[in-house]
Formats: sequence, structure tokens, C-alpha cells
Amino acid sequence: MSLIMAARIENETDLAGMRSAGKKAATVLEMIEPHVQPGVTTDDLDRICHDYIVNELQCIPAPLNYGGGGGQDPFPKSICTSVNHVVCHGIPTPSKKLKNGDVLNIDITVIDNGYHGDTSKMFFVGEPSVLAKRLSKVTQECMYRGIEAVRPGARLGDIGHAIQSHAEAQRFSVVREFCGHGIAKVFHDDPQILHYGRPGTGQVLEEGMCFTIEPMINAGKRNIKILPDQWTAVTKDHKLSAQWEHTLMVTADGSEIFTLREEEQL
Ligand code: MF3
Ligand code: CO
Ligand code: CO
Repeated sequence: MSLIMAARIENETDLAGMRSAGKKAATVLEMIEPHVQPGVTTDDLDRICHDYIVNELQCIPAPLNYGGGGGQDPFPKSICTSVNHVVCHGIPTPSKKLKNGDVLNIDITVIDNGYHGDTSKMFFVGEPSVLAKRLSKVTQECMYRGIEAVRPGARLGDIGHAIQSHAEAQRFSVVREFCGHGIAKVFHDDPQILHYGRPGTGQVLEEGMCFTIEPMINAGKRNIKILPDQWTAVTKDHKLSAQWEHTLMVTADGSEIFTLREEEQL
């Protein structure tokens, strides 16, 4: 028995449950893509996703009323929409109208028959800047490089190092305050998956472990601050930030990504 607890697949029921939840979460990102247009508000995107998750997928949007306690209010919406310099946990609102050149992350977590699927990607509104495109592309590459490091016997520091070294080689920076997480029947479980680190350090990965890899990469400095709404994380220097996320499992020879979309050919 391993001494460090972690979310893991225990049997075929768990595996089928995580595959279904991951697929459904991915479907929401595919469904919302054509709706990401100039003039649409982030609240519109939240309502469309909420209705789809509840009515079409028969799932629960995990962010809605998540967290809270210890002086923090629970998250009030069903998805996170993080526009431009927002790092993560942006709250959808009718006052945030998307305009040409905006870039945003939409982060979807569904609960499907008790299992969680958690995934996010970057969207462009009209034509983004050269920098925004490069930051988004490099951040997606960081996520894939982290995933490539996953196999039994590898260590958590190997994942972090793969991500950090690629981001910093491009003179971008890795956000330290948020990390990937174990996930299955619990939304945010052990272990913490840091997006920076040293190779050969940290917990050893074992077949069956389930977690997310979700690097947040900044165009400027890594520092962030939390807005008075207690959720929205923004870059301190107000430069752009990007994020991509998948939910996956450690398999005998690498990993299985539960939240893969049709557009992804790995
Ligand atoms: N989906 C986010 C993650 O990747 C967490 C969102 S929690 C919320 O872990 F409350 F902010 F929605
Ligand atoms: Co996550
Ligand atoms: Co997420």
C-alpha cells in the first residue's frame, strides 16, 4: 500500500466512470466554441454551458456553489471564464462582453454519476495578437510535455520540470499559486501536481493514479493577485496569461487522457 494518498482508479467501474465524465467535459468545450464571438458576454457562455451540462449531458456543473467557507463565498457560476490577464477562476458576468482580439480560457468541470471530468482550453475572439497566439501555443505545448512525462515510475518533479523548462525557454513564467490535482470521485484531491520542479524529485507515479495537468503560464512575471471577489486571479503586471487542462490516468505504458477532444491528434 502506498503511504501517500492519491485519487486512483480501483476497478472497471471507476475506469468507465472517469472515461464518461472526461468525454462529457470535453464535449462542452467543443459545443461552446462557435459561441465564442465578439459581443457575447461571459455570462452568456456560462448559461449556454450550464444548460448543456444539466439538460443534454445530465451532469452537475462542479464549480457552481463550490468552495466557500473560511470567509470566502462559494463560486457563483457553472464555468470559469478567464479573459486576457485573468489567470484562472474568472467569474462569468453580464458586464464582460467579449471583443475582437480577446483571448480567454474556458474551464469546464462536470460531475457525471459521481465522477469528475475537468478540462480547459484557450479560445480566440476574432484575430488575437502575435504574442497571445504564441503564449497560448506554448502553454498547450507545456501541458502536452507534462503529459508526456507521465508513466509509472516517473516522479511529480519530472512533470513540473517538463512544463517549467519549456515555458522559461520561451521567456514566459509559470504561476506557482495553483496546481493540478488528483481527481476522481473528489474534485480536488491529492496529489498536488506542481507545474514547476526538479527532475527525479517528488512522489513516484503509479498505474491507476488520476490527476489533472493544467499549467498557467504568464507572458510577463509569474506574480498574481486575487481580486476582491475572492476568486478571480489576475497577473500583477496585467500582462497576458494562458492555461490548458486535461484529466488523465497513469497507465502501464504512459497515460490515458480522459478529456481528449476530436480536434486533438496525439
Ligand atoms: N476547474 C478548476 C480546476 O481546474 C477549478 C474551478 S473551482 C471554481 O481545478 F470554484 F473556481 F470553479
Ligand atoms: Co483542475
Ligand atoms: Co479546471
